[in-house]
Amino acid sequence: MPIVAPSLLSANFLNLQADCELLNKSEADWYHLDVMDGVFVPNISFGPMLIHFFRKATAKTCDVHLMIEKPERYLTAFKEAGADIITVHAEACIHLHRTIQQIKELGIKAGVALNPHTPVASLTNVIRDIDLVCLMSVNPGFGGQQFIPSTLPKITELKKLISQYNSAALIEVDGGVTLENAPSIIEAGADVLVAGNTVFKSKDPLQTIASLKRMGTNT
Ligand code: DX5
Ligand code: ZN
Repeated sequence: MPIVAPSLLSANFLNLQADCELLNKSEADWYHLDVMDGVFVPNISFGPMLIHFFRKATAKTCDVHLMIEKPERYLTAFKEAGADIITVHAEACIHLHRTIQQIKELGIKAGVALNPHTPVASLTNVIRDIDLVCLMSVNPGFGGQQFIPSTLPKITELKKLISQYNSAALIEVDGGVTLENAPSIIEAGADVLVAGNTVFKSKDPLQTIASLKRMGTNT
């Protein structure tokens, strides 16, 4: 079964408590929390302060996706806010290896995200050091975009790299995941499905999460 990580970016910010309660009673595994700085991506979302409240609202894993320039400046702040996993973008880190080590020194899990144009091979020298690879299947910045089909062979390629290097990294797919394309994403090798609009804009989010959970070949 895949790990299901609803993205709170698509939640109702006028009533976050209701959406947190919904996720808590759902089969969702993680909270996916999208941090945007208006520089690395053309949108601004939220920072450590809100993550602190999400942390208080749930016992589920807080999966923090940093779409920010020079994320090394804020790692401690996000850890203190309650992140269990911090994912940084390879494109935003000049010294990616060092940044990964800094996350691990905080005692939490380290992830690296790749934009759609960034090759899987750019991870060769860090794949053994990380817990998660987030493959962006849209250009980051907004929820509700269309899945980019070339992500599918990229997932398979990453799966090969992970086994070649005996890495324990999970493959997370982020952007445009729907009930229709989820089976092929899992079949290609994904372990974690992020879903924003598919969950929060659906008529029955609890049922949608349950359906995502039951997707895939090994269920
Ligand atoms: C995009 C974010 C995603 C986004 C996913 O920049 O990283 O996590 O919220 O939303 P959907 O599932 O609606 O594409
Ligand atoms: Zn994300």
